[in-house]
Amino acid sequence: MKRIAVFVSGSGTNLQALLDACAAGVIQGQIVTVVGDNPCFGMERGVKAGTATYLHDRKAYRAADAEGKAQLERALLDHLAAAGVELIVLAGYLSVIPSSLVKAYPERIINIHPALIPNYSGKGWYGDKIHEAVIRNQDRETGITVHYVDEGIDSGRIIEQVIIKVVPTDTVETLRYRVHSNEYPLLTRIVKRLCEA
Ligand code: GRF
Repeated sequence: MKRIAVFVSGSGTNLQALLDACAAGVIQGQIVTVVGDNPCFGMERGVKAGTATYLHDRKAYRAADAEGKAQLERALLDHLAAAGVELIVLAGYLSVIPSSLVKAYPERIINIHPALIPNYSGKGWYGDKIHEAVIRNQDRETGITVHYVDEGIDSGRIIEQVIIKVVPTDTVETLRYRVHSNEYPLLTRIVKRLCEA
């Protein structure tokens, strides 16, 4: 059983898909902790599922000086080490991962991004901003990318991409829904594979 940490900033529906897949035995892994950068609904899902949770508060982190930041990073790393984490999944996590964490888990942190990287990726590209731009630009297709996390933003090695067709009647809502519902099986499949590797 691989020991997994899932990092969230929002609703945590991808986290829920992973919790369900672990509970059903589809993924040979266990989510041992849910880390949030704010007290979001995703963290509540972790509590409900009986996993540990850890708040790595983005407001406190942003306000801290260099020494304070290093201390908060060390505390997070200690938490992950104590939980025996082997794989980190960023599932709607909006804070940048500090290099201390990337170095501690080389090629063991993955992220799901709701676009076909390199399109709509990097600083400032997330969630509805992406879907709005796809519609504004009348793109014919959009998609989802799962990739390893390196020290840049959305720049790590790509593991898999799924293409999603955009139709002329699409709105941000329909696109968000279609992207989201394609994310769950994709992320589940990849986490399953990484747990078996
Ligand atoms: C997903 O669209 C994911 O691709 C992006 O953030 C969103 C998270 O949604 N990184 P949820 O919190 O899993 O519902």
